[in-house]
Amino acid sequence: MASAISVAGRRVECIEDQSILESLLRAGVWMPNSCNQGTCGTCKLQVLSGEVDHRDSPQDTLSAEERTQGLALACQARPLRDTEVALCGSKEARSTHVLRDLAGTVTGVEEIARDTRRILLDLDEALDFSAGQYIELTVPGTIERRQYSLANTAEENKVLELHVRRVPGGLASDQWLFGTIAVGDRVEGLGPLGDFHAPPAEEDTGEPMVLIGGGTGLAPLVGIVRTALARHPNREVVLYHGVRGESDLYDGGVFAELGASYDGFRFVPVLSDETSPDHRSGFPTDAFLEDIPSSRGWSGWLCGPPPMVEAGVKAFKRRRMTPRLIHREKFTPADALTSA
Ligand code: FES
Repeated sequence: MASAISVAGRRVECIEDQSILESLLRAGVWMPNSCNQGTCGTCKLQVLSGEVDHRDSPQDTLSAEERTQGLALACQARPLRDTEVALCGSKEARSTHVLRDLAGTVTGVEEIARDTRRILLDLDEALDFSAGQYIELTVPGTIERRQYSLANTAEENKVLELHVRRVPGGLASDQWLFGTIAVGDRVEGLGPLGDFHAPPAEEDTGEPMVLIGGGTGLAPLVGIVRTALARHPNREVVLYHGVRGESDLYDGGVFAELGASYDGFRFVPVLSDETSPDHRSGFPTDAFLEDIPSSRGWSGWLCGPPPMVEAGVKAFKRRRMTPRLIHREKFTPADALTSA
């Protein structure tokens, strides 16, 4: 029997086997969220009354002591009866894009760099999302879902663009997206998800921005950068793309065009494993420290492997960025976790 979940005066029916997070997002009620797989702890909430089944909540993310204190992970827990919850800290429930099932047709499969593909999906129905969010796709013939950031602006809501890196042996990336996928295939999934996205237009003050993407962690930054420049064409925006070597770089032409259209935009590719007369060498976070003496008043955006994101947070703080203006998305492909 379905149970209801209540938060800040909103009451939502939880369909059997839907997590608290999925039920709330499907009703358009926001709840902090990032990984949707129990690993980041972003969706931790307080159970005020009722009872939940913690399901697969990992001990590392939700300790036994926290369970005793009535905490739960919204992306894993299911209500066992009518349950009231509250967001932790000073966060407040608000409206958000409605999470929904989606379906579409593959219209593009393109090699864009070493072991990297651009996949285009033409949705049957346009999807409301904010630039930077991600979707989950069901791997055909399985019940497994994988997460892919959208490289689109919110206006580009019919044909979605994904950047995919091959993980050798990975069920989704290797066998499907670098294997059997073909133009014309049907795909299914759900979205949008995640709190890593461009702020609503009315909250965007036009502050300077620095963004650092590692590998295909560039994808969500593409939509965020283009959104930010369209809103405030004169703002300063510096985008670093950290990769191993030249053959991992892609979309240089897109960024050259942006640079030609917007005086304040700069694109800086950084190679960690190669030297080249055309590109910077080292880590993108070090390049940022060399280039920008103070980022006080700037916002910072980080998407990539966890060590890069952690180094980026430290670098931004060293340059005096306000912590609340630091946005981050740790990018650990499920295929990488599975094959690890
Ligand atoms: S632990 Fe729930 S969103 Fe990451």
